[in-house]
Amino acid sequence: MTDTVSFNATDDDVVQCPYPHYRKMRDEAPVLELDGNLLGRGNERVFAVSRHEDVKRILHDTATFSSEFGGSGAKASPELRARLKEVYADAWPNVSTMLTEDPPSHTRYRRLVSMAFTPRRVARLEPELRRICEELVDGFENASRIDFHNKFSVPLPVAAVATILEVPDTRRADFKKWADSSVVSIGRIISDDERVAAERDIVEQQHYFVSELEARRADSRDDFLTDLLNAELQPDDEVEGGPLDIPEMLSIIRQIQVAGSETTASLLSDLIVQLGKHPDEWEKLKADPSRAAKVVEEGLRWASPNQGLFRIVRADTEVAGTPIPKGSTIWVMYGSADHDDRVFDDPEAFDPDRERLNSHIAFGHGIHFCLGAALARLEAVVALKVLAERINSIGVVEPDTLRYGPSFILRGLEGVQVDLTYR
Ligand code: HEM
Repeated sequence: MTDTVSFNATDDDVVQCPYPHYRKMRDEAPVLELDGNLLGRGNERVFAVSRHEDVKRILHDTATFSSEFGGSGAKASPELRARLKEVYADAWPNVSTMLTEDPPSHTRYRRLVSMAFTPRRVARLEPELRRICEELVDGFENASRIDFHNKFSVPLPVAAVATILEVPDTRRADFKKWADSSVVSIGRIISDDERVAAERDIVEQQHYFVSELEARRADSRDDFLTDLLNAELQPDDEVEGGPLDIPEMLSIIRQIQVAGSETTASLLSDLIVQLGKHPDEWEKLKADPSRAAKVVEEGLRWASPNQGLFRIVRADTEVAGTPIPKGSTIWVMYGSADHDDRVFDDPEAFDPDRERLNSHIAFGHGIHFCLGAALARLEAVVALKVLAERINSIGVVEPDTLRYGPSFILRGLEGVQVDLTYR
């Protein structure tokens, strides 16, 4: 390690353009100890790992690098705990599932959820996603300037997840509010008032989904919630058998909602900006919409909407020659790994025809590989195809003033104004 490299994930210059900082870390301090308080991890010793090769190795070694990072971090004050106790009075307990679990518990959850969140169910969504995208473009009303982020990027993934969860139109505004409250504290330090308000919304969402699940217990349907309710495992050497209980289902529903909304919105906004800045790429896409899959893949690498997550070190170990003691926290930096010039030539360039396009780890790697990757890809590909059919030209308004939000986990633009001409 070296003391010449420092990194402050909350510094606005870093938030707006982290890539030169990531490069310095990869080159000079590929394992860098950071102040846990600045990453919402309290007084934990946090080691940031920035090279592609090291991030991948850590994600693969689930015995040494545990995903049980959910319960630790900054502790609530006694006042906040008292306020939250009141909010939780009629709540179901928050249980840790999938993302924050290790095998065999993770294996059990992943198998059960995979019985409901099937490739077939995702593929079946395509016509509905196309309909939603067309409706969103209709909503532009041929205006020459639109707020693409709020009129397209944000509503599309919320509508996609709401469709999977069968949330009716009358509750879509609530669903959006619940989704926002679920992500408000991810990768950001928030006030106690914000935390209490967010938890209130989450309890409201719990009540909504419990009544939806109970309705399906009485009268089953051909949908994700029914399949989740009915999913059941036979016990074997690896996992306990049985179905999910209500708190587990609520946790999984929330994870799908949280993981599926803001990440995909960020991808869509970064994609439109890149296509606006590279009119040659936009022309190629219009001429050959089958390029959409490549463009999306490069967008995933370039933007890495999930910039990093945590792992807890279970045994004394080393990474890139740096000793890391048991009990430390690792920040696995997907965003840096995806800009590592040891893997990607000219990593800051947006180039859908680049070599090793599929080596990015924007969806993670190994057993926690993004459950919703197929859905996110489908949403973005359908979106680009519909836009290519309907839009002639894209100009990003004042590209130098684009701003990313303050989260160091879910990186995304706060807004994107574009000038459009239509076909
Ligand atoms: C561009 C969009 C997306 C990005 C960049 C993204 C990124 C990721 C990453 C990096 C992980 C791995 C976390 C880890 O290693 O600990 C992950 C896991 C996960 N993602 Fe996504 N995601 C996206 C969209 C979605 C969507 C649409 C859904 C659901 C509908 C979803 C659901 C999940 C779930 C449930 C997990 C946890 C899986 C597990 O722990 O086994 N994600 N995602």
